[in-house]
Amino acid sequence: MVASIKFCLLGLLGAVAASTIPGASEIKPTVASALERRSASCTFTGSKGAASAIKSKKSCSTITLKDVAVPAGTTLDLTGLKDGTTVIFEGETTFGYKEWTGPLVSVSGTDITVKGASGAILNGDGSRWWDGKGTNGGKKKPKFFYAHKMINSKIQNLYVKNSPVQVFSINNAKELTLDHVTVNNADGDSKGGHNTDAFDVGSSTGVYITNPSVHNQDDCLAVNSGKNIHFTGATCTGGHGISIGSVGGRSDNTVDTVNIENCSITNSQNGVRVKTVYGATGSVKGVTYKDITLSGISKYGIVVQQDYKNGSPTGNPTNGVPITGLTLSNVKGTVDSSATNVYVLCASGACSGWKWSGVSVKGGKTSSKCKNVPSSAKC
Ligand SMILES: *[C@@H]1O[C@H](CO)[C@@H](O)[C@H](O)[C@H]1NC(C)=O
Repeated sequence: MVASIKFCLLGLLGAVAASTIPGASEIKPTVASALERRSASCTFTGSKGAASAIKSKKSCSTITLKDVAVPAGTTLDLTGLKDGTTVIFEGETTFGYKEWTGPLVSVSGTDITVKGASGAILNGDGSRWWDGKGTNGGKKKPKFFYAHKMINSKIQNLYVKNSPVQVFSINNAKELTLDHVTVNNADGDSKGGHNTDAFDVGSSTGVYITNPSVHNQDDCLAVNSGKNIHFTGATCTGGHGISIGSVGGRSDNTVDTVNIENCSITNSQNGVRVKTVYGATGSVKGVTYKDITLSGISKYGIVVQQDYKNGSPTGNPTNGVPITGLTLSNVKGTVDSSATNVYVLCASGACSGWKWSGVSVKGGKTSSKCKNVPSSAKC
């Protein structure tokens, strides 16, 4: 018993918090497994918690971060965790102020579980950075959470409040589930939050974002590339809608098989949105939006456009990123009277194999600018 406690404390390498020892009843009888179990459970806390966790992460198989105050300009770097590690956020995680690009938190590894304990909050206190300019200028703002190279892993029950700018960056992930994640950037509505995308997905295969709750000031979801991406049971409010793209002009420009299902989008600029980049190449195939409800949409209920350049529409679509097999099923709701119900701007021959059924968006204007609309769709 004494030996294993020492092992455990050594493993912490100076963490300020005591490590916790699993109850004796859980410990298996062999010395080796007992040592492994006991060395594995580490708790870090306070202003030195981040540095200690970064130093000791590879010797812990459970990492509890309790009321950690991450210093300014430091990433809570939980990359390269050993296989099977569980990371638990407890209490309030805070971050010092610095103008930099972040990220504030980064996690990578295989068979990783990241979860928020009941009542836990990752508080970005974004108003310190917000200036209404997001990533387009003003202060340099740190991105919040990199979930890069997470393989066969889960992120559960995390509650993120007031991100300075984009929240979850999901990149090079394989079989990653994010369940019951909350992004609450509601304060940004009146205090200058901008480009606070909740989930940006790129170059990933097998991403399952289930039951997220989002209030932000940009895309609820933006898929720039990847395959087999699922986004279900979402409530999205305040932002720019559930988006594919802009696709094109990056190193990876293929979007293949995205299922967006059972989502509600309220008080947002757009509902359903697919954008591709003017003059670029790539492809968008097999995107499905099913059982989607819209209300309080201020720009477009449904918008598909192939004319984006430097983040703005040109009005001139090109065919280098074809959009094939776009299925909309039971997409319904209302937009503001000044908004447009449906807008489709395709280049000749660049949108095909679409299946729209049960699509009903009302309350706004009918667009007169649609081009090359596939037969099952309607503006
Ligand atoms: C749809 O999503 C809501 C959350 O917005 C969830 O409570 C509900 O169980 C989901 N329904 C189905 C059929 O998946």
